[in-house]
Parts: sequence; C-alpha cells; structure tokens
Amino acid sequence: MLTLTEVHTYYGKSHILLGVSLEVQPGEVVGLLGRNGVGKSTTLKTIMGLVRPSGGHVRFEGREIAGTAPHRLAHAGLAWVPEDRRIFRLLTVMENLRTGLDRPGMTEARRRELLDKVYAHFPVLAERRSQAGGTLSGGEQQMLAIARAMMLEPKIILLDEPTEGLMPRMVGQIREIITLLHQDRVAILLVEQNVPLTLDVSDRVYIMEKGLVRHHATAAELRADHAVIHQYLGV
Ligand SMILES: Nc1ncnc2c1ncn2[C@@H]1O[C@H](COP(=O)(O)OP(=O)(O)OP(=O)(O)O)[C@@H](O)[C@H]1O
Ligand SMILES: [Mg+2]
Repeated sequence: MLTLTEVHTYYGKSHILLGVSLEVQPGEVVGLLGRNGVGKSTTLKTIMGLVRPSGGHVRFEGREIAGTAPHRLAHAGLAWVPEDRRIFRLLTVMENLRTGLDRPGMTEARRRELLDKVYAHFPVLAERRSQAGGTLSGGEQQMLAIARAMMLEPKIILLDEPTEGLMPRMVGQIREIITLLHQDRVAILLVEQNVPLTLDVSDRVYIMEKGLVRHHATAAELRADHAVIHQYLGV
C-alpha cells in the first residue's frame, strides 16, 4: 500500500536519508525504530510531502506521491500525527476534532457518527469536549491528535513517537488505541523509541541507522532474538 524505494532526502546540503526502502501493507502495523537523529521523523515528513526527496520513489496505492501537498494526501487516506502533536490550543476538543471532518461529501449525520465513535474510544475526550485543547495534559493531547487523525478515516496513520514523555498509564492507553486501530484494519507506521511497546503492537519492524534501514524482521523474530535490538539500539 505504502512503498518507499531508495529514498534520498536533504535538508539544504545535509544528506539525511541515504536510500530508505520500506513498505506497509493494508492493515499492517509496522514499527520504525532507531536512535536519536537517524532520520525517522524525516522519513515520515518525506512521505507526507513536507520535504521533497531528491531521489527514489514514494508510492501510495501504486501512485507516486513524493511532493504531493499534505492536505491532498490526507484526503487520499494518509494521516500523520507529528511529534509535536499540533493541537489547536485555543479551540475546544470538539472543534479540534471537527477540523478533521471538514471535507467534501461529509453529511452532518456522518460527522456525528464519527465523533460518537471517537468519544466511545476516548472517554476522556468526551468528558473534555468543551475544554480548550491547550488545557489538556500531554497524554490527552496525544490522544486528541490521534483521534483527530481518525476523523479522516485514513487507510494508514503515521505516528511519530506517540508515547514520548508520557506517564506509564497514558502509554498503556496509547497502546490500546494502536491495538484498536489494528483490529479496525487501519495500517500504522509507528516511529518509536519505546522498544517493548513497538515489539508488542507491530507485525513487522524496521531498524534505522544513520539515514538507512539496517535491519528488517517480524516483531516475533525480534522478540525471540534480543541481540539484534541490542546491536542497533543498545538496549
Ligand atoms: N529542518 C532541519 N534542517 C536541518 N537538519 C535537520 C532538520 N530536521 C532534522 N534535521 C537533522 O536531520 C537528522 C535526522 O533528523 P530526524 O528528526 O529525522 O531524526 P529522528 O530519527 O526522528 O530523531 P529523534 O529520535 O530525535 O526524533 C538529524 O541529524 C537532525 O539534526
Ligand atoms: Mg523524530
């Protein structure tokens, strides 16, 4: 469904992605692990068209998408939850969610249905629906960011370190949401530093090192053989 082939990306003169290849199949949860600064976020930004690759291919459902505007990708079924979440701090929780619902072909009944579904999955967002986004805790904001992405009814969600800085209880909730999305057959490309969580929720995992994918295995293989994780991630 989503395929990167030999993708090269520069920031100015810095060559960051040195030929990244990976793929995500429909309904698959795929982990992308790697130490700080190896290019995980840049990989997601390249997919989302925020940086244009200088070489290689980014294909979504067979079509070349490198350089396509993010809002067009969102309509095509690709959602992205960036590291900094980008909640509208002054809008209420409901208004934040509704920004994901303003698209052609949406009826009010369908909007209602999607909102109700998300409120059922995230009771805390239902409780706080009239509260400003900026007043939520970090974990709640992360949930809101994921819930907003779900409003787009995406085929795939790119999650950039969703559990970073969260308390263990919140990490558990994010894990549940990922599992739920997986059951709903929404594909996920999950960038994480939390190795146990990634091995737990993913079908397959890629490990990056300095702008390249160095290792690729099923999560089950990596759970059984921790030496690889230790070699690349030092944990
Ligand atoms: N806008 C930018 N301009 C120049 N260099 C950048 C920019 N953004 C990131 N970089 C550099 O690109 C490299 C890869 O960064 P990237 O954010 O993709 O790493 P990452 O794997 O997501 O790391 P982290 O775990 O810290 O989030 C780093 O060396 C970083 O300093
Ligand atoms: Mg990053």
